Amino acid sequence: MNYEALGLFYLVSAVLFITGLKLLGSPDTARKGNFISALGMTLAIFITILSKDLNYENAIYGFLAGGLIGLFVAKKVAMTKMPEMVALFNGFGGLASLLVGCAALINTISSDIFFLSTVFLSILIGGTTFTGSLLAYMKLSERIPGRPLVYLGQRFVNSILLMCILVSAIFFIQNPTNLHWLYLSVTLSLLLGLMFVLPIGGADMPVVISLLNSFSGIAAATAGFAINNILLIVAGSLVGASGIILTIIMCKAMNRSLVNVLFSGFGKVSLNRQVSMDQGEVKAISGSDAYYILEAATSVVIVPGYGMAVAQAQHAVKELQELLESNGAEVVYAIHPVAGRMPGHMNVLLAEADVPYDLLLEMDQINPRLDTFDVAIVIGANDVVNPAAREVKSSPIYGMPVINADKARTVFVLKRSMASGFAGIDNPLFFKENTRMIFGDAKETLGNLTKEFD
Ligand code: TAP
Repeated sequence: MNYEALGLFYLVSAVLFITGLKLLGSPDTARKGNFISALGMTLAIFITILSKDLNYENAIYGFLAGGLIGLFVAKKVAMTKMPEMVALFNGFGGLASLLVGCAALINTISSDIFFLSTVFLSILIGGTTFTGSLLAYMKLSERIPGRPLVYLGQRFVNSILLMCILVSAIFFIQNPTNLHWLYLSVTLSLLLGLMFVLPIGGADMPVVISLLNSFSGIAAATAGFAINNILLIVAGSLVGASGIILTIIMCKAMNRSLVNVLFSGFGKVSLNRQVSMDQGEVKAISGSDAYYILEAATSVVIVPGYGMAVAQAQHAVKELQELLESNGAEVVYAIHPVAGRMPGHMNVLLAEADVPYDLLLEMDQINPRLDTFDVAIVIGANDVVNPAAREVKSSPIYGMPVINADKARTVFVLKRSMASGFAGIDNPLFFKENTRMIFGDAKETLGNLTKEFD
């Protein structure tokens, strides 16, 4: 295949990636976006195989094996386990870049500084992403404790580690035939990934996963420079940029800086449940008592959270929404940007239950009018409705923007117990005068509520 034809196909692939990414921005076009991006990637893989003097058979076997594993895992994974799967994918992306960097080095005899620097960067960032993501996966899947592991002088140790990597890289670039420096760089990069993720835990894990996603893209882009593959540079840059944008959005939604997320050991503080507040009395009511209030309500706002995902209560929520609407009430959903365990978690679940997108209101849209609602139904949400973020200065989440569910005339909180949410802190909402707790699994509680309407 000539260079012009290859360039043209790569351009088509790049356009497909960008179009796919754009369509992923809205729930109603996201599936199409995913399909278009996958089409772009398939085209890219086949064009690359055809353009090189490669062993076709091995490449096809690799493509089939990878595709089948991906299909199997994607079909099998529960929605609540998605962040863990993304962590693994990021890790393998990093490992792939590390291997591409090593292969480029073995196949090319060159002392060109630019080539050696890009090889080194793909190895450094790829290696760090690989072990960091594996550690993040193990923390999230609770194979190891998810809490942050902080020790005195941690930042100093990490800085020394990074310096050692840079020094070994300089020696390696000056003397590329001496592979010992390369081996040392690879080993230290793998170690850096572990040291980087160790002090992060608890509620900050999704942020670090998004950051590692960005790293995996940057590693791929540098590998693209190393092997002079324009499409790898484009695809890697897209992943790198979108990952960092998502990281920043999440940090903003938690009112934290990235530096604070990476180095503060937030989960360690919060798991100690350091919220000082005057806890009043918890008022629990039954589903049938809640029904009388709901039956009289003319406006209801539903605030879903991680518990809705655990209970798989999205269809039951939709059923309640329809009953309330047919009873004459206005019903909307308040969606917090970090509700659940991954970006867009609530949107995906509610889309699965065919909840119309125009009923989903973002935090900034709903908060100014929350005090006009008769009832707020909080379904398995905790941290994202915690008024301590506004009221308790000593709270670890003080300043984080939350959905002001407590401003509604009556608040129903559906959860199983008084247990804390992901951040591990108490929630004053449960003790407010206008709050009524309805204890139990969210799906069961909603089922009981809808039965009352019959
Ligand atoms: P959480 O604060 O984690 O609270 C979930 C609540 O659901 C728990 O208190 C739990 O209480 C309840 N629950 C669990 N299973 C249930 C069931 N079967 N039925 C009823 N309730 C159930 O959730 P959230 O409010 O969505 O907040 C998300 C957290 O993740 C925040 O801390 C956020 O900062 C963090 N985070 C998320 C993201 C993204 S991208 N989503 C990113 C970074 C951080 P019981 O055990 O008592 O039932």
